[in-house]
Amino acid sequence: MDSSTVGPNRTSILFVCLGNICRSPMAEGVFRHLVGEAGLTDRFEIDSAGTGAWHTGEPPDPRSEETARRHGIDLTSTARQVELADFDRYDYVVAMDRENLRDLRALRETSGGDASLHLLREFDPDGTGEDVPDPYYGGPHGFESMYHMVRRSCEALLEHLRPDERSS
Ligand code: 4NP
Repeated sequence: MDSSTVGPNRTSILFVCLGNICRSPMAEGVFRHLVGEAGLTDRFEIDSAGTGAWHTGEPPDPRSEETARRHGIDLTSTARQVELADFDRYDYVVAMDRENLRDLRALRETSGGDASLHLLREFDPDGTGEDVPDPYYGGPHGFESMYHMVRRSCEALLEHLRPDERSS
C-alpha cells in the first residue's frame, strides 16, 4: 500500500462485484457499520467498485438499499469501475464471486500492484469459498439472503483483520 494515500496505520479494503450496485455496496456498507460499532472507523479506508462500468455514477440498487435499511444500515456508495491504481491503493481487494476474482487477478497482473486478493466468502463460517450469488435478476429473497452472507463474512473478515489493527 502507498501509505501516503490513506495515512499511516490504516487498513484499506475495496469490495468488488460486477455492477457495483447490489453486492459490493452492501459489503461496503455492512463492513463500515461493523467497523463503526467496533470503534475502529479511523483505522480503515473502505470503498467498493465493479469490474463492469454500466452503472458508473449510480446509487446502489433500491433493493440493496431497502434490505440494508431494514437491518439498520445506510448504503452511501456511488458506483464506479475498478481502476488499475486500486491495486496499489488498497491493501485488500475482496471479490464477491469467482468470476470477479478471475477478472481482478488479470487486472492486478496488468497493474503491477500488490493488493491482496480474496473471495469474500473465504471468511464465511457457513459457506467457505463459495460465491455471493448475483441477486440482480432475482426476487427480493435473493437480497435478504445476500445480506446475511455478506454480514457473516464481514464479521469474520473484521475479526481476521483486527490483529493487524492491534499491532499497528
Ligand atoms: P452486482 O449486481 O454485481 O451485485 O452489482 C449486478 C448489477 C448489475 C448488473 C449485473 C450484476 N448488470 O448486468 O447490469
